[in-house]
Amino acid sequence: MPHTFQNLIETRVTTGHFDATRSIDDSAIRTMLRLATQAPSAFNLQNWHFIAVCTAEAKEQLCTLSFGQPQVKEAAVTFIVCGQLDGYRHLHETLQPSVEAALIPATLQERWSAMVNDLHRDNPQLQRDEAFRSASLAAMILMLAAQDQGFASGALSGFDATGVTETFGLGDHLVPVMLVTVGHPSGQPRPGKARKPIDAVLEYR
Ligand SMILES: Cc1cc2nc3c(=O)[nH]c(=O)nc-3n(C[C@H](O)[C@H](O)[C@H](O)COP(=O)(O)O)c2cc1C
Repeated sequence: MPHTFQNLIETRVTTGHFDATRSIDDSAIRTMLRLATQAPSAFNLQNWHFIAVCTAEAKEQLCTLSFGQPQVKEAAVTFIVCGQLDGYRHLHETLQPSVEAALIPATLQERWSAMVNDLHRDNPQLQRDEAFRSASLAAMILMLAAQDQGFASGALSGFDATGVTETFGLGDHLVPVMLVTVGHPSGQPRPGKARKPIDAVLEYR
């Protein structure tokens, strides 16, 4: 039965255990990434980058850097979802396909490129905030895309960011925002956890 959007959201839960014997092929990974990168981003910066950790050796390293959380190596793939800090420098070329497809005018490409450069160039806090916003929006779609394909998933921020940066060679311009595990679930899915009532989190002004 096809998922409805509501059903997809309501059945997604964080999965702690995966069937470690089953892999996910490249085409499924690409489909999830194609959907995840439909996420919006400020100026269409697309200031994200994904490392699909699939080999046993790399998973072992990442598991150790995640304080031994076993799902990181049991999952068929654990994505290191990164934010790109210097996306502002590349906005002109990032927008070029939209200009060529006549989706935006070249004048907007020029205006946004200048504007983002002015805003971000000397503002590392904004570079980081925007990197986290963009990567987080993409990560959420990634988990829903995984769910839609019949996989289970989980987000993790429990990892050593410095260690991940060093071990996976992220360099100065990528920041690891979160890990997203994706794989075949093992065992029965558990029910979703309770959420705060809407009245506790919503206010009107
Ligand atoms: C940013 C973020 C970081 C998280 N980090 C971890 C983690 O390090 N380890 C873990 O087991 N779960 C982690 N979780 C999962 C949360 O505990 C889980 O999303 C929350 O309890 C709600 O449960 P649900 O996702 O099943 O609805 C994380 C979730 C998010 C969104």
